[in-house]
Amino acid sequence: MNRHILVRQEGPVLEIRMNRPEKKNALTKAMYAAMAEAMETAEKEESVRAVMISAEGDMFTAGNDLADFAAMGSEALSDDALHVNSFLNMLATMELPLIAAVAGNGVGIGMTMLLHCDIVVIASSAQLTLPFTQLGLTPEAASSLLLPAQIGYNRAFMMLALGQPLSGKDAVALGIATECLPNWEVETRARFMAQECCKRPSEAMRITKRLLRNKAQIKERMEVEIEYFQERLRSPEAKAAFEAFFNR
Ligand code: COA
Repeated sequence: MNRHILVRQEGPVLEIRMNRPEKKNALTKAMYAAMAEAMETAEKEESVRAVMISAEGDMFTAGNDLADFAAMGSEALSDDALHVNSFLNMLATMELPLIAAVAGNGVGIGMTMLLHCDIVVIASSAQLTLPFTQLGLTPEAASSLLLPAQIGYNRAFMMLALGQPLSGKDAVALGIATECLPNWEVETRARFMAQECCKRPSEAMRITKRLLRNKAQIKERMEVEIEYFQERLRSPEAKAAFEAFFNR
């Protein structure tokens, strides 16, 4: 187990907690691997009926660890890319209800993972940002498909291409989040909603989610995005952006 990812089961709810607050919960490849493993185990474990993602500290997550991105861009991409891909794959295929407690800001995958969650409780003070193009990068996690489908093309362009942030309140208005609350109430409410999911018959819940989400289409889009993304990681634009971040 990874010390930056805490996993605990409370009744039928498995909680996966990002726990690297000193780095704003930036996600390393080891953290992706730990989260993917926990989700995979949850799917197989009969006693788990819902999975909740939460975070320690003042941010939900600052997205992918930029040092990892820089390393991935300078080496031949091999196993490194697999960890994030296995996490993305679990997000796309998970049949158990997935609940997110977003008590602080979400950046990059900290926002795009929410598009795969079935219930998102967000802080009214939180902001969601997708700085892909500023980093010389392109959309991931099927966000190029799911975001315009959820919020409309123009707003998706403002977020994905121009990096315009979205407030917790607007996330609810646009259907990305279920409800927004003061940040200190977010986790309690998300845990309550997770428990609510567990009260419904599990097979009916699984089939409902299967019908609501087009897994094949999501996976297909992820594959196309990954091709571009890996190429972009090696680009001079991305290298310059990573250097600029670490030389701030
Ligand atoms: N990757 C690696 N380290 C990160 C990180 C990331 N994505 N985000 C934050 N950190 C680290 C910082 O380098 C800093 O480390 P240090 O204390 O050793 O210097 C620490 O986390 C605290 O971050 P800091 O920038 O001081 O906090 P802040 O509140 O001023 O700003 C952010 C927070 C999220 C706005 C800012 O850290 C940021 O822009 N991070 C990058 C976000 C990003 O581009 N993610 C990739 C998305 S695809």
